[in-house]
Amino acid sequence: MNKQGRQITRRNFIQSSIAAAAAAGVTLGAPTPQSPRWTGQPITIGLIGCGIRGIEQMQNLLGVGAKVAIVCDLYDGHLRRAQELQPNTPVTRDYREVLERKEVDAVLIATSDHWHTRIAIEAMQAGKDVYCEKPMTHTIPEAFEMVKVSHATGRLVQVGSQSLSMQSTHKAKEWLDNGDIGTVYAIQCEIYRPGPVGAWEYPIPPDASPKTIDWERYLGDAPKRPFDAARFFRFRNWWDYGTGISGDEYVHLLSRVHYLMKVQYPVSAVAYGGLYKWKSDRDVPDIHNTLYDYGKFQVATLANLICNYDGGEIVRFFGDRGTIVLTESSTTLLPYDLEWTYGYPLEAWPRDLKNQFIAQHKNDPLADIGTYDEQPHRQKKFFKQTGEGTKDHILNFFQAIQSRQQPIEDVDFGCGTAVACHMANISYREKQGVYWDADHHLLTGEKGSVDMNLA
Ligand SMILES: NC(=O)c1ccc[n+]([C@@H]2O[C@H](COP(=O)([O-])OP(=O)(O)OC[C@H]3O[C@@H](n4cnc5c(N)ncnc54)[C@H](O)[C@@H]3O)[C@@H](O)[C@H]2O)c1
Repeated sequence: MNKQGRQITRRNFIQSSIAAAAAAGVTLGAPTPQSPRWTGQPITIGLIGCGIRGIEQMQNLLGVGAKVAIVCDLYDGHLRRAQELQPNTPVTRDYREVLERKEVDAVLIATSDHWHTRIAIEAMQAGKDVYCEKPMTHTIPEAFEMVKVSHATGRLVQVGSQSLSMQSTHKAKEWLDNGDIGTVYAIQCEIYRPGPVGAWEYPIPPDASPKTIDWERYLGDAPKRPFDAARFFRFRNWWDYGTGISGDEYVHLLSRVHYLMKVQYPVSAVAYGGLYKWKSDRDVPDIHNTLYDYGKFQVATLANLICNYDGGEIVRFFGDRGTIVLTESSTTLLPYDLEWTYGYPLEAWPRDLKNQFIAQHKNDPLADIGTYDEQPHRQKKFFKQTGEGTKDHILNFFQAIQSRQQPIEDVDFGCGTAVACHMANISYREKQGVYWDADHHLLTGEKGSVDMNLA
């Protein structure tokens, strides 16, 4: 109880602190340049899934000053690691224990993809806000289930493609919105991850066994099969648990595209790929290239887990006046030298016709057959990013919890990028181009129907 005798609930506690956040000068969607810390009211998180990403996120949560009240995972080794980071942290194999905890304001879900939706929906129904690692869902129908529950419960979802909180993305936004590269008609996204870790051939801990891993729970709704440590620790390699290159990597690139181009869904996608090098019993491709049409522009997405470490993740926005190149750590603006003169074709005309044309077009700048316009006022610009965005993304989520405004990567946004990623997978798996009907949430194939429930 406070001095006025009013009971302090989590909700009114948070509402009353909105002003404090505003006073701290924090703005939704604006990343901070330094290693950020949460300065608002205390926020308590339950972490569900503490493998590679979950452990990293636990460090980020503690690093920004959040409280991690309880950690859930299905492998004892990961739970032991969580307790190394924060001694005596309560741990469990059953995520429902996390949802039952009253002091937990929000959950951070970093499980394998096939568990995201179920846990997120149950968490929202239990009154928790949700930070869900990308890709938001395992299938297209699941994405719309999540949207429905978030809207119905008023619980917030922040999807974890932290590139939206990177300063480099916001610098690109400034330049794009300013018209610095004109109108964008084409975008090229690339991601390359050579080597076994890049190809998700992760090492398996020596104590992996049905004793240390809750295999039955892990399978969930996936087809039943005997214990297989590879399918647990390398889940991305199978459609039953993961979403392939598209759900793992396209989603980072397409999040930037959707955010900066202000679109929610592609209109169509056609994908090609295959398993060229990593030929164990995995069933997702190691090369996956997709061409998307968004109506007013196209996006080519090139990705493989084999070769070419030419900068890792790159998104190139091609406008009619310049190009913006986004990497994980920088943004570059490359204005074009505008070679807009008729000089070159006029060289093939006899002199009298050429002079006649120039005289007739003396007020037309294109008729100038002199040297190309160097456009000296259009300089190359370069912006260097500090940090990698995740802590800012967490802070953006915390600001949303406090203000009850939507975070930067809300459930509707996450649904759009999830649909785009699943379209690439379904096109690849069904061997046909696919078309998205945004009004009816329906996917059709150029050769007939497609299975929207495929990962
Ligand atoms: N945003 C990013 O940059 C980023 C980076 C890496 C991973 N991720 C995402 O994070 C998620 C996890 O990836 P990872 O690399 O940490 O995988 P991982 O295999 O290392 O960890 C997944 C963990 O989830 C646990 N888990 C599975 N089902 C569970 C359940 N029902 N209840 C509790 N725990 C469960 C497993 O025990 C495992 O420890 C994936 O969705 C991945 O796409 C995001």
